[in-house]
Amino acid sequence: MMFDKLEPAPADSIFGLNEQFLRDPNPDKINLTVGVYQDEHGHTPIMRSVHAAEQRLLKTETTKDYLSMDGLAEYNRAIADLVLGANSRVIKSRSSATLQTLGGTGALRLTADLLAKSLNHSNIWHSNPTWPNHLGIFRAAGLNPQPYRYLDAQGKGLDFSSMMGDLQQIPEGSAFLVHAVCHNPTGFDLSRPHWEELAELVAKRRLITVFDFAYQGLGESIEHDAWPIALFCESNLPLFICNSFSKNMGLYGERVGGCTVVVDAESKAATLLSHLKLHARCSYSNPVRHGAQLAAMVLGSADLRATWVSEVNAMRVRLEQLRELLFEALRETAPQLDFGFVQSQRGMFSYSGLTAPQIQKLREKYSIYALTNGRINIAGVRPDNVDRLCRAIADVCGVNAPSRSLA
Ligand code: LMR
Repeated sequence: MMFDKLEPAPADSIFGLNEQFLRDPNPDKINLTVGVYQDEHGHTPIMRSVHAAEQRLLKTETTKDYLSMDGLAEYNRAIADLVLGANSRVIKSRSSATLQTLGGTGALRLTADLLAKSLNHSNIWHSNPTWPNHLGIFRAAGLNPQPYRYLDAQGKGLDFSSMMGDLQQIPEGSAFLVHAVCHNPTGFDLSRPHWEELAELVAKRRLITVFDFAYQGLGESIEHDAWPIALFCESNLPLFICNSFSKNMGLYGERVGGCTVVVDAESKAATLLSHLKLHARCSYSNPVRHGAQLAAMVLGSADLRATWVSEVNAMRVRLEQLRELLFEALRETAPQLDFGFVQSQRGMFSYSGLTAPQIQKLREKYSIYALTNGRINIAGVRPDNVDRLCRAIADVCGVNAPSRSLA
């Protein structure tokens, strides 16, 4: 028979666990897997600004016609302003171009297609660890992903000098990917002096920087989180900025993101855009209209934008509070364990330092689902589950086994 020899593909290391979580009948199960924001009820809400935009759109939209391959013009302009800064020199000189994509993943895939197929790159360097899907996306486009060091030996902080040491060794003109803010999976970010040092290295070695910018606003603020990009724009070297409105506008399932290229001349920006359009056309043809209209309306209407900014700020503050809640609860439940490093992480994730067998035990004994690499989604921590979570963590770490049964 046909297909007899085809083995099932492995489950995705993030969404596969989420599927397992959804099938788990335990009423006390805890979901710390996929990077989606959850409110205090464990629900992923529609933001007020987006909901209002949706209502306006219903009254004003007149067509569901195709968008062009590069997407909605006003959406792309809004992205350029957001990621580069509205007064950016590269916007004024037209040496940047933005193409609407299917989420941040789509932006990464088109960037990888461009590097591999249009610019004949064979390799791309990425932090170790990184978002697991980076590897799949790069390989699917024909690039070999190559790691650079990122974490210290204990996995409890950034090892910037090793990162720089590795990037100094990569061939001049190579492409490397860096997380602009809220590093996924670790939550450890570069400091301002680190970025300045990295920008110097990039200029010296003439590297192509690919920014994964999926968490704008969840680090320090919408504006502040974009400043490494403005800094790198000064180098006059090519940049690719892959941004997404999944997290900061809650538009996960609407699949809206963008790929912005920055080069040193208007004609080059147009050429790169033409190649991105070609790769989009051969993949999914045209991006989605609905989500882009929503994001463009939120960003382009003063009242909705103000609401959105305050919603992003509230989300960031709540994530910080949940991080603190987790840290304090762990300190109380298992004072023998040092989880102080959790406080220096930012964004939606915490790299817990738990090992794969410990994560497996959490899942099998307690129905607590986190990624095998130890990443937990901070938004899944709640005042009503943090005690159970911490006592389970203490148990799998072999300390202070709680007296009452949790399983
Ligand atoms: C995550 O890292 O969990 C999110 O970015 C969702 C995804 O696509 O993996």
